[in-house]
Amino acid sequence: MSTLPGDAAAQHARKVLARDLMRTPAHISAKYFYDQRGCELFEAITRLPEYYPTRTEKALLQARGADIARSVGPCTSLIELGAGNCEKVRLLLPALQPRCFVGVDVAGDFVQAAVERLAQDFPGLEVCAVEADITAPVTLPARIGEQGRLVFYPGSSIGNFDPDQSMTLLRQMRALAGEGGGLLIGIDLPKERLVLEAAYNDAAGVTAEFNRNALAHVNQCLGSDFDPAQWEHVAFFNAAHSRIEMHLQAREAVQLRWPGGARAFAQGERIHTENSYKYPLPLFLQMLTQAGFKACKAWTDEKDWFAVIHAKT
Ligand code: AVJ
Repeated sequence: MSTLPGDAAAQHARKVLARDLMRTPAHISAKYFYDQRGCELFEAITRLPEYYPTRTEKALLQARGADIARSVGPCTSLIELGAGNCEKVRLLLPALQPRCFVGVDVAGDFVQAAVERLAQDFPGLEVCAVEADITAPVTLPARIGEQGRLVFYPGSSIGNFDPDQSMTLLRQMRALAGEGGGLLIGIDLPKERLVLEAAYNDAAGVTAEFNRNALAHVNQCLGSDFDPAQWEHVAFFNAAHSRIEMHLQAREAVQLRWPGGARAFAQGERIHTENSYKYPLPLFLQMLTQAGFKACKAWTDEKDWFAVIHAKT
């Protein structure tokens, strides 16, 4: 396994991966969706007819850009967490007019390429990319000033974390925004089960491919021997927890191996790969207040499917 990355961070990540795979039920952190192919598959998901969140949020940012900019006030640095292809921020830049944009993402090369495209299309905008897992406090380059920071966390990505992890993250975002700063966050709201479940079980099978691709990425990181074809995509709404759950279910008995470990899966056994929480707006506003944010302003679409919230520090 001489091709495995050898630095301390990669070694730690392998330890966590192996531990999570040994649990019953096994699980894999949602960050493993986002290797190069996974980022491309996610982009394809955002264009699916069933996947409403991206287009609903984009329409909101487009329609409410001026209101959002008025609520935000002067913005020097716009810092996007999980920036990916940096497409959404394009809708905010004309109204917000920040001096610089920082794209933070676990997929470092992917976000680097995206901020470079952004710099070409927005002359005068200073850009930089930071490769980071946002569950740890994010360190920004020294040249990013402390004044006038707006942290942008769109896409309802906060939904990937458990409620108490989300509280920790919201507090970290508040610290990152600093005094006199703010957070602009997108959240997917609870809605009819059929609509929710269709968004994670698209007819073209892109979400299934995205889910299985996490196994290929885990193979790269851990040196394991998953055969993605042996695993079936399962996604459903768990109403008790108000979350979509995604799992991979073994189509047959699987004997998994990796350097230093092994795990047997029975036919039908599942690996939990993702939660996507759907928070009612009043509950999420309460969480923001609990995390120390002050004034909050929320915008929703006409169906009340998605909300964009501005919270001041
Ligand atoms: C990027 C976490 C917001 O939960 O809807 C899309 C990821 N997973 N389809 C979501 C995802 C399956 C997405 N987030």
